[in-house]
Amino acid sequence: MTEAQFIPKTYSNVKESGSVAWQAPSNIALVKYWGKHGVQLPKNASVSFTLSHCCTKTKISFQKKNTPGFDFEVLLDGKREVGFEPKVLKFFERIEPYLPFLRQYRFTIETSNSFPHSSGIASSASGLSALALCLVDMERMMEGVDMTEAFFSKKASFLARLGSGSAARSIEGPLVLWGSHPGFEGSSDLFGIPYSFPVHDIFKNYRDTILLVDKGEKQVSSTIGHELMHEHPYANNRFEEANNNLNRLRTILEKGDLENFIRLIESEALQLHAMMMTSLPYYILMKPNTLQIIQRIWEFRKSTGSNLCFTLDAGANVHVLYPESEQEAVRAFIEADLVKFCKHGEYIHDKAGNGAKKLV
Ligand code: DP6
Repeated sequence: MTEAQFIPKTYSNVKESGSVAWQAPSNIALVKYWGKHGVQLPKNASVSFTLSHCCTKTKISFQKKNTPGFDFEVLLDGKREVGFEPKVLKFFERIEPYLPFLRQYRFTIETSNSFPHSSGIASSASGLSALALCLVDMERMMEGVDMTEAFFSKKASFLARLGSGSAARSIEGPLVLWGSHPGFEGSSDLFGIPYSFPVHDIFKNYRDTILLVDKGEKQVSSTIGHELMHEHPYANNRFEEANNNLNRLRTILEKGDLENFIRLIESEALQLHAMMMTSLPYYILMKPNTLQIIQRIWEFRKSTGSNLCFTLDAGANVHVLYPESEQEAVRAFIEADLVKFCKHGEYIHDKAGNGAKKLV
C-alpha cells in the first residue's frame, strides 16, 4: 500500500456533531525501533507485545464550525491540559492530508491514562493511537461506503505512526510488526500489522511487570535520541542487527525457544541503550537501580532456572517478561527482591493483550 491510498475521496454522510471514544493500549518492543528517516519512517523493522492494562481512553466530541484553522482543546482527567496541545496541533497538521475534514470541526479531546501521568511510562503510543482511532472512526461514520475492518486498523496505525512511531504498534495485538522486512510478507514502513506467523503457546498471555524505577522527565527525549542516530558511527550495524534479530525471533517464537528468547530480548534492550551511550552527545537513561534490577534478574535466573528476562524502553524503568506458567514464582521474587529498587515501591503487572477497543 502507498500513502495515497489513505487519502479519502468524498464523504457522503457529513455529520454536524457527535462523539466517539476508544481505548488503546501501550506496547513494549521486543526488537526495538531506534532511528528513523523521512516522515516517521523506521530505519529497521520492530515487533512488540501489545499490553493489556496500560492504556489510554480517549473521547472526542466534534461540532461543525465555519471559522478557519484547527480548533481543539485537550482535557486530561477532566482538566484542560495545554501542555498536550502543541503535540496534538503538530499531529493534526501531519494527518490533515489523510483526514481533510479536520479544520471543519471544533474538537474536545478528553483523555485519561490507566497509569499515572508521572509514572515514566510513555503515554505517546497509547495516547496517539487512541486519538487516531477516534478520528478514523469519525471518518468511517461520514463515508458512505463501508470501510473494512482491515483498512480501518491500517489507517489508524498509519495515522498513529505520524504522531509517534511506536504508536503504529498500538492498534492490534498480541504481537505487532512494524517496518518493511523481506522475511515478513505484508510488513510495511507505513503501518503496523498483527504478527500472523506461528507462535508457540508458551508466548500466549506473556506477562510483563513494569518496575517504575524513575518517574522524572527524561534528560533526552526519544525524538532527540532518534535524531542522534543520523550521524551515529554504529547506526547501520544496529539497523542490520535489528532486522537479523527479527529473523531469529521468528524461529524462536515458532519453537517456543525460551533460552534464545531471553538472549535476544535482553540483547535488544542493551543494544538500544548502547546506541544512546555511543551517540554524540552521549547519554545514559538507565539509573543505578536499573542495573541493580538487571543484576538481580540474572542471579535469580541462574539460581532457579526461571525464564524471566528484562527489557527496557527509552528510560530507566524495567519491564520484566515471563511466561504465564511462572507467574507465581516470578511475582514472589519481584516482591521480595526487586520492589525495593522501584521509586515508592511502585510497579504494574501487565500482560500481552489483544489491542484497542471501541468504548460506548
Ligand atoms: C525506545 O515511538 O517514542 O520505545 O517516533 O519520535 O515518537 P517517536 O519515537 P517513539 O520511540 C520509542 C522507541 C522505543 C523502542 C520501541 O518502542 O520500538
